[in-house]
Parts: sequence; C-alpha cells; structure tokens
Amino acid sequence: MTSNSAFEKFATDVDKGLGEYPKNLSSKYFYNAEGDKIFQDIMKMPEYYLTDCEFEIFEKQKAQILESIQTKGKFNLVELGAGDGLKTKILIQYFSDQNVEFEYFPIDISADVLNELKSDLEFRFPKLKVHPLNYEYFEALEKLNELDGSPKVLLFLGGNIGNFSNKMALDFYSQLNGILNDDDKIISGIDLKKNPHIILDAYNDKTGITRSFNMNLLKRMNTELGANFNLAQFEHYPTYDPKTGEARSYIISKVAQIVEIKTLRKSYEFKAWEAIHMEISKKYDLDQIQELAKRSGFKVLKNFQDEKRYFVDSLWLRVPQPPV
Ligand code: AVI
Repeated sequence: MTSNSAFEKFATDVDKGLGEYPKNLSSKYFYNAEGDKIFQDIMKMPEYYLTDCEFEIFEKQKAQILESIQTKGKFNLVELGAGDGLKTKILIQYFSDQNVEFEYFPIDISADVLNELKSDLEFRFPKLKVHPLNYEYFEALEKLNELDGSPKVLLFLGGNIGNFSNKMALDFYSQLNGILNDDDKIISGIDLKKNPHIILDAYNDKTGITRSFNMNLLKRMNTELGANFNLAQFEHYPTYDPKTGEARSYIISKVAQIVEIKTLRKSYEFKAWEAIHMEISKKYDLDQIQELAKRSGFKVLKNFQDEKRYFVDSLWLRVPQPPV
C-alpha cells in the first residue's frame, strides 16, 4: 500500500467492518502483492472454471465479437481492471490481424501492473496505441472522455461483477451509464448459475489456495495495520446458495478471542464460531442479466457463451437517455 489516503481508507473500512454485526471485510482488500499472486494460482486451479471459459469464448468467438462491436471509424477499447490483460490479448491480436482501427486504454489502480502491460503490448503489437490510465474506474473514464470522444467498448471481464451485491451491481452499471455516451458498449464477463457442486468446488479447493487467499487478508492487517490475528485460531468457510446464486466466503473465529489493531488503537472481540463475511461471488442467469442491463439503461445485444454454458460475455449497448 503506497498512498496515505489508500492506507487510511483501508484502516477505516477494517474498523467499520469489524465493528459491525455480522462482521465483514471487503474482498477488494484481498489484492495486495501476495493476494495478486494467490489469485494467479486460483486461476490455474482445475476447479476454477471461470478463466478457462472466458478464454474459450474469446478464442472461439473473437470474429463474432468483432462483428458485433465494430463501429464505422476508430473505437477505443477500454478495460476496467486490466491486470495482465491475458484474455484481452486474444482480442487485441485478432483485431490487429484484421487491421481494425482501435486504441487500447487499460485502467488499473496498480501502476506496476500497467507499466508491465504497456511494455508487453508495445513489444507484441508495435503499431497499437496503448494509453494506460492509472486511476479508479470512474475517474479514469472521465479523463478518457476529456481526451478522446471516439466510441468506446468497455471490457469488464473475469466475473468481477459477481463480487458486487445486487445493489452495488445496479449502482455500478447505472453510474457507468451516466459517464458513457449513446452507442458506447460494454462487454461484461459474468459467471452463470449451474450445478451448485461445481460452483462450490471452485471456491473450496482441496489444495487450500482459496483458503490462503482469504487468510491473506488477516496477514495483511497484521503487517499493514499492526493487528495481531493468530491465523491458527481462524478457519475459512465457503458456501453456495443456489436460490440466491451467491457463493460466499467466511473466516470463522474458532475460539472466543480479542484481536488488537495497533494503528487503530482498538481491540475487537470475537465470540467462539463468530463469522467475518469476506466475499460474495454472485452467479446470474440470463434473465437476471437482461433485467440488470435494462434497469441500468443498457440493452443486451448479444450473449457469447462457452460450450458448457457456464459463463457468458454479455455485450450491452447504452441506449439513448431521455434529456433531463
Ligand atoms: C475476482 N473474482 C471474480 C473472483 C471470484 O470468482 O469471485 C475472486 C475469487 N475469489 C475466490 N476465488 C476467486
């Protein structure tokens, strides 16, 4: 964690979450350097089907994707949370081979990640114009609107929308709608409801990688906030509810205990078997996706699914908004 305000936000959110009942912490804090590494391992796990499904969709349907998004002149391909851009490179390669006129704007809060991505893309695609935007999503989109008014195709991949509650997802797309122009498009990678055992297995691997991913947040609070979580006194507990489509993960305190956080000058009491809610990974069905698009001012143009129909890349068009 670098900036002071990011540190303060982390500390405030932790204090708020541990002070609430039920206790909760935001999964967005999973992603420090160690968390990023563990997430890379998760994506390689055989149980974690999401990544392979989205790869397959891009590999097999890149021509149809291009056909559905292409505009008359140049367009800007904008990626929210670009990371290493691994899946996006499939599209970039194909669009470049087809001599499509586009520029790429990866958005990420990690400057290191963006620098690496930029140099890799410059090496692989010397003709491609890459404009990294090292800001939070909405700030970056405002900057982009000032820079260049070409039509946008926004990518929000990997099932990231699943980490938002229903209300957060609706607020997120509505806010995007407010920043986009008529005819801009979004492609969201969304995980679908399926056999509940398959979903639960993806978040409950026998090797314990997902467990470490969750436990890493306790470690992070120890190192960054001076907390004294004893990891042996906590366990990871994942669930999946087929009715709500929510996979949830909890950290459970195995004993009654008090945890101190030095930088906050506070202590937090845990009852035996008390839970901290860590993450939600919501699964949708196609009707729910349609409804979400409609309620946030978009129209579903096309759903690209993998062969097993586990995952969808849903292409939405921003519908013209009535004047206010
Ligand atoms: C980043 N996100 C879409 C992942 C998911 O599936 O919710 C994070 C993750 N959590 C546990 N495994 C993977």
